[in-house]
Amino acid sequence: MKKLLVILILCSTFSLYGQKFKGLALTPPMGWNSWNNFACNVNENLIRETADAMVSSGMKDAGYIYINIDDCWHGERDSLGFIQADPQRFPSGMKALADYIHSLGLKFGLYSDAGWKTCGGRNGSRGYEYQDALQYAKWGVDYLKYDWCNTEGLKAHGAYLTIRDALYKAGRPIVLSICEWGNDKPWEWAKDIGHLWRTTGDIINCFDCVHDHGTWKSWGVMQILDKQDGLRQFAGPDHWNDPDMMEVGNGMTAGEDRAHFSMWCMLAAPLIAGNDIRNMTQETRDILTNKEAISINQDSLGIQGFKFLKYGDDIEIWLKPMSNDGWAMCFLNRGLNERKISYNFKDHIFQDAGRYIDFNNHKFTVYDVWAKKESGTTEKNYIFQIPSHDVVLLKLTLNKSR
Ligand code: GLA
Repeated sequence: MKKLLVILILCSTFSLYGQKFKGLALTPPMGWNSWNNFACNVNENLIRETADAMVSSGMKDAGYIYINIDDCWHGERDSLGFIQADPQRFPSGMKALADYIHSLGLKFGLYSDAGWKTCGGRNGSRGYEYQDALQYAKWGVDYLKYDWCNTEGLKAHGAYLTIRDALYKAGRPIVLSICEWGNDKPWEWAKDIGHLWRTTGDIINCFDCVHDHGTWKSWGVMQILDKQDGLRQFAGPDHWNDPDMMEVGNGMTAGEDRAHFSMWCMLAAPLIAGNDIRNMTQETRDILTNKEAISINQDSLGIQGFKFLKYGDDIEIWLKPMSNDGWAMCFLNRGLNERKISYNFKDHIFQDAGRYIDFNNHKFTVYDVWAKKESGTTEKNYIFQIPSHDVVLLKLTLNKSR
């Protein structure tokens, strides 16, 4: 009995150092990251201006709170081994930058790598995990994206456990974004380690293509979407599949951006903008800040959507169960031609998350998210045009009076 007690006490003591910070991402994190548009060209002016724009553009009000610096902010380690910011790019230092971001009511994110060098060749965290975590805590970091380049000889599960424990020990609640590209199936082991995990290699600003770089590939929006197949069961509040940061506003057409954004909402994906939000068009801003689309992404049930039906090669219908018995529904046109659709709700049963909806017995009000208007009910055929590479995104609200 005494032995058992000792073991129990030891276990609970050690678990103090072996947890993730819970409850930091009950809905998918929303913010901005420098990589997709700026790559290594980061400096403190860009980050301050971006934080300002986050507020003035209405993105903060729409829910985007993280300002995350990706690769290439790093300088050298000091004589004790503590990582420093690049003094040319960040002359005021990371603490001052974090303070500024916090003063705007936003949160601050940084990037590191489990290997000895980041993907961009800067200092990685290998061998310095606990010291780096201390430094981040001291600076006021709220979010850490942790990459997987130059990790020869490391196992992903162990490496991410180490940084999780280091962050926990340092004592400042920090969202941990696991970025090992899905290589080692993090959805199977990372629920208690990180708050989100990348499911694929890097995204590019292309709707439907693959770029082959020789030793690695980057993927278009549709390619990444297809790679989410079979992963929805692993996601939920505080542990999300991450199909990568968004390319909205980075060169695709408005329809493609709308489709990309809508699908990320349907997937309950982290919504991390990757464009220059200081200089975005009204069209881009309207997409990123569409409140109804965001409410689909941020629904408190946190159920990832799924592909429900296919019409030919081009049209897919996706569903996402929502709170209050609601559903989000997205018609995606992957093809090159506009399509006319006449959809009869009564022809198909919606079944998921313990629900069974036969539209002969249930009536829902239909709201068109991009047209921003109510569009009748599920009693009648839903007839509409859907342009190439675009979506029609609907929210269905149960009409309880029936
Ligand atoms: C990897 C990541 C990207 C980005 C770059 C930075 O490719 O997957 O998201 O962080 O590294 O070098």
